[in-house]
Amino acid sequence: MKPAAAGCALLGGLCLALCLGGARGLPRSGDSEWRKLIMVHHWPATVCKEVEDDCKDPPDYWTIHGLWADRAEQCNRSWPFHLEEIKDLLQDMRIYWPDVIHSPSNRSSFWKHEWEKHGTCVAQLDALDSQRKYFGKGLDLYRGLALNSMLQKLGILPSGNYYQVSDIKDALASLYGVVPKVQCLPPEQGEGVQTLGQIELCLTKDLQLRNCTEPGEPAGSWRGAGPARPTRSLEVCEDGPVFYPPPR
Ligand SMILES: *[C@@H]1O[C@H](CO)[C@@H](O)[C@H](O)[C@H]1NC(C)=O
Ligand SMILES: *[C@@H]1O[C@H](CO)[C@@H](O)[C@H](O)[C@H]1NC(C)=O
Ligand SMILES: *[C@@H]1O[C@H](CO)[C@@H](O)[C@H](O)[C@H]1NC(C)=O
Repeated sequence: MKPAAAGCALLGGLCLALCLGGARGLPRSGDSEWRKLIMVHHWPATVCKEVEDDCKDPPDYWTIHGLWADRAEQCNRSWPFHLEEIKDLLQDMRIYWPDVIHSPSNRSSFWKHEWEKHGTCVAQLDALDSQRKYFGKGLDLYRGLALNSMLQKLGILPSGNYYQVSDIKDALASLYGVVPKVQCLPPEQGEGVQTLGQIELCLTKDLQLRNCTEPGEPAGSWRGAGPARPTRSLEVCEDGPVFYPPPR
């Protein structure tokens, strides 16, 4: 395992943003129970499969699901979502943070959901204490982490052939210098192979990359209920083969 600094050096511009820029991101007030930020990327083809293909022309690249806190949800119900506050971000949001499932006309309900459920919690950090900052920082992190090009560089491409979960995890860990969390859609009725669905990279409250696991903790101990979805839902991938489905 390379030290975090090695992974950070690889990331160039991200290093500046994460390692130097985040020093003031301390909790603003009170005793916050959550300990890490989670930058959640999802693979649209799998998201569509999760909801039984109720999707139109899903993107063929990893998109943002959200920027979450690890142990907190829905932290401030009196802080409603206002689309006007992120007007200048909408062009990028539509590309990198789209609502994969619903029709484009309703994309803002996904952003509303992410803000109310997760944004209101991570907004305890100065660096994220407005909707503009929350969505703007989410986009910055997405660009800095550059998961799509990293996976390509690692030769991990959508394919009819299966990968080993450990190969994907190890490759990402060596590149980023931290342990990611990789989630899959379990095989249907125990048959077939799990499907790669979500890749999480974790950050400290100072916005520096950190392991998604705690020292001595098995991968994926606590997870929120996730968005209400009608069918199968993502779980931490089991060791073994995994399908990384090509976009249709
Ligand atoms: C909840 O959000 C509102 C609106 O931004 C703010 O005035 C209030 O202080 C917040 N409450 C807490 C507990 O952070
Ligand atoms: C948009 O979402 C609302 C509820 O969030 C729903 O009532 C409405 O039918 C949706 N519109 C479209 C065009 O899907
Ligand atoms: C991150 O995880 C790796 C692999 O399990 C471990 O070697 C390393 O010590 C961890 N780093 C921290 C800061 O816990």
